[in-house]
Amino acid sequence: MLYDVTVNLGERSYGIHIGAELLEELGERCVSAGLKGKCLVVTDANVGSLYAATAMESLGKAGFKATLATIPAGEQTKCGDQLFALYSRCIEAGLDRKGFVVALGGGVIGDLAGYVAASYLRGIPFVQVPTSLLAMVDSSVGGKTGINLPEGKNLVGAFHQPELVLADLQTLETLPVREYRAGLAEVVKYGIIYDASFFECLEGQWPALADRSDVGLLARVVGRCCEIKADVVGQDEREGGLRAILNFGHTVGHAIEKVAGYGEFVHGEAVAIGSVFAARVSVEQSGLSQAECDRIEKMFVDLALPVRAPGCPWADLRAALAVDKKTIGGMPKFVLASAIGLVSFGNDVPEALMEQVWKSL
Ligand SMILES: NC(=O)c1ccc[n+]([C@@H]2O[C@H](COP(=O)([O-])OP(=O)(O)OC[C@H]3O[C@@H](n4cnc5c(N)ncnc54)[C@H](O)[C@@H]3O)[C@@H](O)[C@H]2O)c1
Repeated sequence: MLYDVTVNLGERSYGIHIGAELLEELGERCVSAGLKGKCLVVTDANVGSLYAATAMESLGKAGFKATLATIPAGEQTKCGDQLFALYSRCIEAGLDRKGFVVALGGGVIGDLAGYVAASYLRGIPFVQVPTSLLAMVDSSVGGKTGINLPEGKNLVGAFHQPELVLADLQTLETLPVREYRAGLAEVVKYGIIYDASFFECLEGQWPALADRSDVGLLARVVGRCCEIKADVVGQDEREGGLRAILNFGHTVGHAIEKVAGYGEFVHGEAVAIGSVFAARVSVEQSGLSQAECDRIEKMFVDLALPVRAPGCPWADLRAALAVDKKTIGGMPKFVLASAIGLVSFGNDVPEALMEQVWKSL
């Protein structure tokens, strides 16, 4: 079972391959993607202990001289110190402009290693091997790379498209359940922003999806998410417009992560809460029916995701919203829904409504 999706970006187009036992094929697939020479495989301690050996063996068999860099797991790793340490590892590994980086891990590794590739020697190729559900359906596709600053998430970064994305669904078997469920928040997002029938399918099949028991279903779901992301990115690579719809639930989600302290909520959990916030605002401001808003909230509850953050007072959240990347003149911009599957971006929300909806959660 193999699901292939293409991200159409002219000369920078690339394939996303989704299936089982793909990690063993990493080396061959890098050859097919035209990669040559030396590479630095960046992974975190959790993923590395499980999958680095297979990845390194496959790269070695295909003739690549691969060096492994294993760094600590967690959002704190997506920082300047690790970035500079990885530049040194690139130099030690002898990476020249023909070399490449392999990001083996979740979104933290993908964003950080991707940014190493975007900036080292003014940019070298890289390959995404996502191992978390969130990374498979979202962060590995579309070329956003970067790191956090103490002042906020993802404040430094670059657009840099990978040469190849290889999503081996078997790696999801070892993903902690909390991380898996957090990834499902991004899956639900695709239904809300783009595809009402996909959302309906998720409503019908969530028990099998939640317990990871049906690999075929998982392949179709990951594949559909990647198709939607590829479609959006193909139309608007650098977020001049449409791509902003992918941020549904993220404006407040990022602020929650910051106020609660990175790590208190994992990214997908914060996105679930932010999505319920956006849905409730949408009822007041963009014509979403109360019934559809309730379906959105129920979907997250069914998937055992949080829908409120009692430890985040409004004043702190509002202050965090003021430094969001998408905030202009202190006013955060929101993606709002008029129906499931239909959203608009760049919306201002009146102060009083933001506060009222936050306090209603
Ligand atoms: N670039 C983008 O477009 C984009 C989009 C969405 C999110 N992100 C970023 O992605 C990050 C979150 O990604 P994440 O949720 O994957 O977090 P993560 O990379 O921290 O991974 C979550 C945890 O799961 C572990 N893990 C990953 N795969 C595993 C596996 N197969 N088996 C066992 N353990 C495994 C990791 O070691 C980590 O402890 C955030 O920094 C967020 O900003 C980026």
